[in-house]
Amino acid sequence: MKLKAPGILPTRADVITAWVWHEDALYLLDQRELPHREKYIRCETCGQVKKAIKDMVVRGAPAIGITAAIGFYLGIRRFLIKSKGTRSALKAQAKRVFQVLSSARPTAVNLFWALKRMQKVLESLEFSPSKETIEALKKEALKIWQEDVDANLKMAEFGAEILPQGKVLTHCNTGALATGGYGTALGVIRKAYELGKVKSVWVDETRPFLQGARLTAWELSKVEIPYQIIVDSSAGFLMQKGEVQAVIVGADRIAANGDTANKIGTYSLAVLCKEHNIPFFVAAPSSTFDLSIKSGKEIPIEERDEREVLFCGGKRIAPKTASALNLAFDVTPAEYISAFITEKGVIKPPFEKQIPQVLENES
Ligand code: MRU
Repeated sequence: MKLKAPGILPTRADVITAWVWHEDALYLLDQRELPHREKYIRCETCGQVKKAIKDMVVRGAPAIGITAAIGFYLGIRRFLIKSKGTRSALKAQAKRVFQVLSSARPTAVNLFWALKRMQKVLESLEFSPSKETIEALKKEALKIWQEDVDANLKMAEFGAEILPQGKVLTHCNTGALATGGYGTALGVIRKAYELGKVKSVWVDETRPFLQGARLTAWELSKVEIPYQIIVDSSAGFLMQKGEVQAVIVGADRIAANGDTANKIGTYSLAVLCKEHNIPFFVAAPSSTFDLSIKSGKEIPIEERDEREVLFCGGKRIAPKTASALNLAFDVTPAEYISAFITEKGVIKPPFEKQIPQVLENES
């Protein structure tokens, strides 16, 4: 469908947006169809929102969190409008909605973080089945969204300062499509390009879902930043030839010691950076840090359908009898990371000590 109505949007930093939200429905830009078609999927129930997250209509850690918060709102709003409801019925519904949405994908902590924030609003209102509750949930979801946009812009400023001059390599998609707007790692790249620091971008195609080739390339084309897509395995050779001055990626979950889960292939890039003495940066908002876990060993890694690997563009590319292991994320040990770029500031090693210190800063 083509959208005309503006919907509810926070003060956006961007022309690119993953969704439009009306009171009673969320219209998600179907990222599986990009760059070929800009088609929206309408979600009215929390079940539909969960399916959209699971099926990658919307993806990227911060975007998943914001979408889940809106899904929570839709699930409670619908319930309160349809049935009169009691406190205990609302409590039971909130539990259902929380369970449904939190089962969408396991790795990005932003999903659970956002749902907990929504749940807290209900708790603070003692599960009152009222209009005020609907309004308070809407306000919180919008706040989560707006805070992410603000965080993106701050990260861009901090990150652009520390990126070296030259060519930068990025993995997966961390732009406006993956966040509330503007982006984490891609936001830093955009700002650094504006300042004349980044000359051009190497875009890892990011097999098998091709977030780089399809989505990052689409975003960079829209904002007119020069880039070239490379197959994931060419990063090492380019580094050897002096063609990469920095690597910057996003994150799905960062443990207290700095171990970082991100799109599969990130760890290999970090090891290559160490070998070639190239800085390796991770840009992520504080909502991506999970200080309840000590190390990356505790991060659940999503395994997706093998068909994402065995098929390309709808065509089978492997023998009919072949099977595939499709791990969606890997964990980069903290020692490979030069610095984290957050909305609260840049975090340098020793991470165990510096992460809580910087995150506690009022931004
Ligand atoms: O499987 P995806 O596309 O949701 O994975 C996304 C990533 O790994 C991103 O790098 C991460 O979520 C950071 S997005 C700002």
